[in-house]
Amino acid sequence: MSNRLVPGFTPPRVPYRKAFDPSCGCEKRILKPPAGFHAMTTGRMRGDILRRPNYNHVHGEQRIAGLNPKKYTQRKDLAAGMTDDGIILHLYAGNGNLARAIYKNRARGHILVDRAVNPRLKNELRNAVVHEKSMDKFLNEDLPQITDRITLVDIDPFGSPAPAIKTFFANYKVRNPLRVAVTDGYANFLALNKDSERGQRNVRNLYLSTHAGDGSSKNQLRLLDNLMNQMALRYNLRIRRVNEAQKYLPTGSKTIYAGYQVTPT
Ligand SMILES: C[S@@+](CC[C@H](N)C(=O)[O-])C[C@H]1O[C@@H](n2cnc3c(N)ncnc32)[C@H](O)[C@@H]1O
Repeated sequence: MSNRLVPGFTPPRVPYRKAFDPSCGCEKRILKPPAGFHAMTTGRMRGDILRRPNYNHVHGEQRIAGLNPKKYTQRKDLAAGMTDDGIILHLYAGNGNLARAIYKNRARGHILVDRAVNPRLKNELRNAVVHEKSMDKFLNEDLPQITDRITLVDIDPFGSPAPAIKTFFANYKVRNPLRVAVTDGYANFLALNKDSERGQRNVRNLYLSTHAGDGSSKNQLRLLDNLMNQMALRYNLRIRRVNEAQKYLPTGSKTIYAGYQVTPT
């Protein structure tokens, strides 16, 4: 069991305590990390002790929402001032944390798309239509049939949102102002891709621009902005980034949250 710590940290002595484990009916030694640290209990980093992210400034609603505070704040800011006269399209709706915490009362209807949508959402949201299928299938087959006015599309995948962004704009004609909320976790791969030909090609194919920088979130944001600018040129739109936030975890994982205002010209 390794005790991988945040770089620059001296490992504190980790006390153990005994606790009853109902799965085997016996007592087991349980790792009890000191305050301010937490132990990874599953996955590749099982047993590693990591410093807790500092979420001390985050209170109540944000924690309950089950969302990262950066994501919560960025989405809340983007949705501010929205009235309930349009439809919100939730791409990668999943568990519905964003739908519940941010968008619930900001639309007269919701379209929820994911391989698996939380079944409770149908009753919790006003006029919710659920598409439980692959994103490709929805974007290519269902989206072109939608005539409702979409006022916001939330694109919240694992990894890169670029394929969904491109297919969305190819299949939805923007006739009214539209807000686009994006989560982009591709920065986690950017550094790996930097020097390989394959990596460069991946970035070009995904973001329609060159991998001219490092694996930083700043570079990732540049690629995302470039992609949105390409969408603006291709579909005759005005697209402006209105906000962004960046999440870092002690594991080194990073994600960008960005909001765009799209207007037809
Ligand atoms: C970050 S989670 C979404 C979280 C959700 N927006 C929320 O607020 O609770 C990403 C979701 O993408 C879905 N997903 C991943 N690949 C997909 C695909 N090809 N088609 C449809 N859904 C997909 C997963 O099922 C997962 O629920």
